[in-house]
Amino acid sequence: MDSIVIQIASSYHVEYAHDISYLIEESAKKRGTGIAKRSPSYIIQKINERKAIIAVTRQGELVGFCYIESWGNTKYVANSGLVIHHKFRNQGVAKKIKKLAFHHSIKMFPEAKLFGLTTSLPVMKINSELGYEPVTFSELTDDDAFWKGCQSCVNYEILQTKNRSNCLCTGMLYNPAVNKEKKKYFWNKSKWLSRWATIKNKMGDNKLSI
Ligand SMILES: CC(C)(COP(=O)(O)OP(=O)(O)OC[C@H]1O[C@@H](n2cnc3c(N)ncnc32)[C@H](O)[C@@H]1OP(=O)(O)O)[C@@H](O)C(=O)NCCC(=O)NCCS
Repeated sequence: MDSIVIQIASSYHVEYAHDISYLIEESAKKRGTGIAKRSPSYIIQKINERKAIIAVTRQGELVGFCYIESWGNTKYVANSGLVIHHKFRNQGVAKKIKKLAFHHSIKMFPEAKLFGLTTSLPVMKINSELGYEPVTFSELTDDDAFWKGCQSCVNYEILQTKNRSNCLCTGMLYNPAVNKEKKKYFWNKSKWLSRWATIKNKMGDNKLSI
């Protein structure tokens, strides 16, 4: 793991675009999802926009990738196309890539809600750890351009039949506004607790417990 470098992709990484495109396509085929193929030119665009995270070994071997897309006038942001080369799976690389993509997305779009659609258990685990919560599709972007991306999925008919209200994927959302409130609540609570502990110590009352 020490020999894997995870970073925001730069022009230096453009040379990996074909391999990344191939890796995404092959992984989708194996999973039987038929998720849209990402062309090398699209990946290069993401790299040039500083909206991609890449993992490579110190020897230059491609390990994994993920990119950032914004929807609905940048009100919504998705971290998509997450893929790890099978040789490097189950070593926590996806978790690290997603974490960097998450913080980079918040820096680029501080007001945006972060969301994702997935059938992948590892991705659900990672998202939950980052503070995402499962939501109904009505909470996600209504940007048609985003939902168009589902057209190449084998389950697209289900999505259409359900009028875009649900499908086999789970929708997950991170709302920075709600999270700020939660953080404030915990911060206030911890400040209150430490103040209470100080008072308690001063009173020398060892019987009270909090
Ligand atoms: C899904 C994928 C990105 C996970 O990558 P990874 O680097 O192996 O994942 P990590 O090692 O960071 O694991 C993250 C968590 O998922 C768990 N996990 C990994 N693979 C798992 C599996 N097959 N089933 C259940 N849990 C799994 C890990 O144990 C870890 O959980 P923990 O924090 O509780 O230990 C990788 O398998 C992949 O590229 N798959 C094909 C493409 C894909 O499905 N992309 C997602 C599209 S939404």
